[in-house]
Amino acid sequence: MYNPQLILHFSALHHLHILSVCLSLSTERQKMENNHQKPHALMMAYPLQGHVIPSVHLAMKLASKGFIITFVNTQFVHHQITKSHHHNHGPEAEDIFVGARKSGLDIRYTTVSDGFPLGFDRSLHHDQFMEGLLHVMSAHVDELVGKLVASEPPVNCLIVDTFFVWSSMICDKYNLVNISFWTEPALVLTLYYHLDLLRINGHFGAPDNREDAINYVPGVRSIQRKDLASYLQANDSSTVVHRIIYKAFEQVKKADVIICNTVQELEPDTLSALQKKQPVYAIGPIFPTGFAKSPVATSLWSESDCNKWLNAKPNRSVLYISFGSYAHASKQDIWEIAYGLLLSEVSFIWVLRPDIVSSDESEPLPPGFRDQIKGKGLVVPWCCQIEVLSHSSIGGFLTHCGWNSILESIWCCIPMLCFPLLTDQFTNRKLVVDDWGFGVNLRDEESVAREEVARKIRRLMTGGSADELRKKVTEVRTALDNALGPSGSSEKNLNDLIDDLKVKIASNKQ
Ligand SMILES: *[C@@H]1O[C@H](CO)[C@@H](O)[C@H](O)[C@H]1NC(C)=O
Ligand SMILES: *[C@@H]1O[C@H](CO)[C@@H](O)[C@H](O)[C@H]1NC(C)=O
Ligand SMILES: *[C@@H]1O[C@H](CO)[C@@H](O)[C@H](O)[C@H]1NC(C)=O
Repeated sequence: MYNPQLILHFSALHHLHILSVCLSLSTERQKMENNHQKPHALMMAYPLQGHVIPSVHLAMKLASKGFIITFVNTQFVHHQITKSHHHNHGPEAEDIFVGARKSGLDIRYTTVSDGFPLGFDRSLHHDQFMEGLLHVMSAHVDELVGKLVASEPPVNCLIVDTFFVWSSMICDKYNLVNISFWTEPALVLTLYYHLDLLRINGHFGAPDNREDAINYVPGVRSIQRKDLASYLQANDSSTVVHRIIYKAFEQVKKADVIICNTVQELEPDTLSALQKKQPVYAIGPIFPTGFAKSPVATSLWSESDCNKWLNAKPNRSVLYISFGSYAHASKQDIWEIAYGLLLSEVSFIWVLRPDIVSSDESEPLPPGFRDQIKGKGLVVPWCCQIEVLSHSSIGGFLTHCGWNSILESIWCCIPMLCFPLLTDQFTNRKLVVDDWGFGVNLRDEESVAREEVARKIRRLMTGGSADELRKKVTEVRTALDNALGPSGSSEKNLNDLIDDLKVKIASNKQ
């Protein structure tokens, strides 16, 4: 170590020279120390569309508050994004954050292998893909982080999706402050968090689970088993996703900080109960600035432009339908929904992923449907959802209840028809339909019938029921808007989070 006191004993002749060396060295050292203290977060998005979007926008939020970010996508996600954005040849082909850096944000970018070759069909081989995320990916991440901690300024914290199972191994090995990013509602977080309680009480993991209400989870007044995440309702609790959940939720309890893409006022009791256990910051909704198309590409598929079609439709007359990026629906349900749409006579835009039933099923729609809907309906493989939801012609959203979709729909004051398929979507439906009252449930039974579809679409889109739903969603929109305002809860929580992280980073340096 350089010791200035020793230097002062050197001969006067050398004094001046040495003093200047000493000064420049100490400013150099100060700079280095500043650099060491400057928050530099390594962020990694879970390699699914619904996780990539909020992770990218969280990165931009933190960078706009002075963080340095090194953002990591899997090579597969990166490849999908550049392929679908026609950026094969520009600088974005290497780095999706080129546009963000132009606006002054210090976000660096790199990729890591998820363990599989690019051409591997992750949708068709879902469980094999998940086994890779559970067992193989960590070795690739370890190698990458080993390189990045030696960068200047060094990485000093890790912000990764709660579902990554390797975060504690990486944080321990490289002495990083560990931050878990939760992209679903706090209610879902807390139910997984208290999985042991569900098990002890016989609501989960037993051959014959109890079917009565669950009323012992801290911060959750009462919830039915049918409203739990699909994995918590399942009879087989040893699937690969279960094993990921068990490991992930052991780790999240040890994280220094949890960041949630929700709003304190939306889930006050659940969040307060969690906050008694460890630091949890609700900083949502995490959207691109101005809810406009982001300068950073995040879409895994090419987006069809629906504006021209929508411009020709009256205000609030069009039903927007999307089942998200991940879950599959049965062919029978897709057909019933298709026939129900025809019966309802409502105009619609239907985002129908080619692999919605399965990536080896070429046509999910009933024969002739695409011809029958000319003028009345538009079926596209993918679109820019915030752009479509923002359009004044949209009057309702038939949704799988993914959390991003719900937040975006609230933001646009669009009431929802709820058709959950998988994972947290059942719990999200409970929030939207039962707790917040701006949604209609389309999943009362195991399967859905066309007459019911038509009846509920009309309830969503027309008459007094539509007005009532819109009034409710507008109230919640106001709460979200306030939360993001200069004195709102999410803005305050974001600033508190940053202060908290700076302290933790500084004390981690010892
Ligand atoms: C996170 O850091 C804390 C202390 O800094 C440590 O006790 C804990 O094991 C770490 N947890 C994970 C998941 O890395
Ligand atoms: C679980 O098993 C019970 C009883 O065997 C059955 O009624 C129920 O449908 C099963 N649930 C699921 C999600 O498979
Ligand atoms: C349709 O909505 C837009 C945007 O809210 C508004 O400016 C316009 O006046 C509305 N048109 C009609 C016919 O109500």
